[in-house]
Amino acid sequence: MIIGVPKEIKNREFRVSMTPAGVAELISRKHQVLVQRDAGLGSGFSNEAYAAAGAAIIDHADNVYAQADLIIKVKEPLPSEYSLIKEGQIVFTYFHFASSEELTKAMIERKAICIAYETIQKADHSLPILTPMSEVAGRMSIQIAAHYLEKGNGGSGKLMGGVPGVKPARVLILGGGVVGTQAAKMAAGLGAEVVLMDINLTRLRYLADVLPANVTCLYPTKSLIEEYLLQTDVLVGAVLIPGGKAPVLASKAMIESMPKGSVVIDVAVDQGGCIETCKPTSHEHPIFLVKDVIHYCVPNIPGAVPATSTNALTNASLPYLLQLADKGWKNACKQSGEIQKGLSIVKGKVVDAMLAKTFQLSLQDITESLSE
Ligand SMILES: NC(=O)c1ccc[n+]([C@@H]2O[C@H](COP(=O)([O-])OP(=O)(O)OC[C@H]3O[C@@H](n4cnc5c(N)ncnc54)[C@H](O)[C@@H]3O)[C@@H](O)[C@H]2O)c1
Repeated sequence: MIIGVPKEIKNREFRVSMTPAGVAELISRKHQVLVQRDAGLGSGFSNEAYAAAGAAIIDHADNVYAQADLIIKVKEPLPSEYSLIKEGQIVFTYFHFASSEELTKAMIERKAICIAYETIQKADHSLPILTPMSEVAGRMSIQIAAHYLEKGNGGSGKLMGGVPGVKPARVLILGGGVVGTQAAKMAAGLGAEVVLMDINLTRLRYLADVLPANVTCLYPTKSLIEEYLLQTDVLVGAVLIPGGKAPVLASKAMIESMPKGSVVIDVAVDQGGCIETCKPTSHEHPIFLVKDVIHYCVPNIPGAVPATSTNALTNASLPYLLQLADKGWKNACKQSGEIQKGLSIVKGKVVDAMLAKTFQLSLQDITESLSE
């Protein structure tokens, strides 16, 4: 199979979808790999390193798309990339379809085979390709919040951990999955007073056992969130309904009740966000204010630490890419329930039930797509 690795073009997105080591694996299995010139530079991988691994270096994105059977990316295709995608071409990337009807309709129109990293799911319901980026984003959310709490950056001037004799900052985390757990660990490690809320009681029991004593695990009700936000310095949005739009858990009125100079980080913004006042921002213009509350809603947080993120992403995506390349998308989906869960749109037909429901689109039975 011919696999194309285009350069990412989203604002300050420095990740690349494949490391030279990943390319070498594909080449050893007799696949061909086309890497767009300079695609890896942001992550520290030179064109020479890709060439040495056996890739052909291609000057322009349109030639990568034109020749490849499978395009592997990091972020969702942007409007300038839509027209490059060919009918029947496999596109394997983070799509986060539920946050963009425009992207969903564009991919339907292109008649591509869209396999979403974020909905590939193991039997235990974990999301193996989302997990490493959620680990990065969860950890970074607290680093970022600590930065914006500083007075010179517009915040309230509180030190996350306080000092002996002075209270630490209060951090509220909505969602105790991968992002929420990593955020809680980081905030607790810095000495903050942390509250983590999740509707999954089994998960809450587990987290209450393993997280440090300065993390309190609670079941979220509207009135409890309302009560806590009055005294919260940092709010992290970290809920997920796989493949669906995030539920809104904090209303505008609740956010406006937060102390002046507090910080909201809606990590779930890539799935539409779980905080009413959030709208996507970019690494270039990461924040905006809503009544003196700083909002940070960057949908590609891990793009800021590509040296870590690119390696973590390739570790997670390569085993699935190898199956797709070796067996073809149909056989890979027939033989792997995990990959089948990632199949979202097949040649113009939506096959992911949650996506069809989100935008009220007709749903094609996945077995029909696999037998056509
Ligand atoms: N902005 C970024 O750069 C970035 C990077 C990685 C992940 N993400 C996003 O972060 C979000 C969280 O990802 P994750 O990997 O932690 O997901 P996850 O599935 O591991 O965790 C989600 C948690 O949300 C909980 N939840 C669902 N509905 C809830 C509700 N109503 N109230 C409270 N909790 C609820 C679930 O029980 C689960 O524990 C996703 O939208 C993901 O796409 C964003």
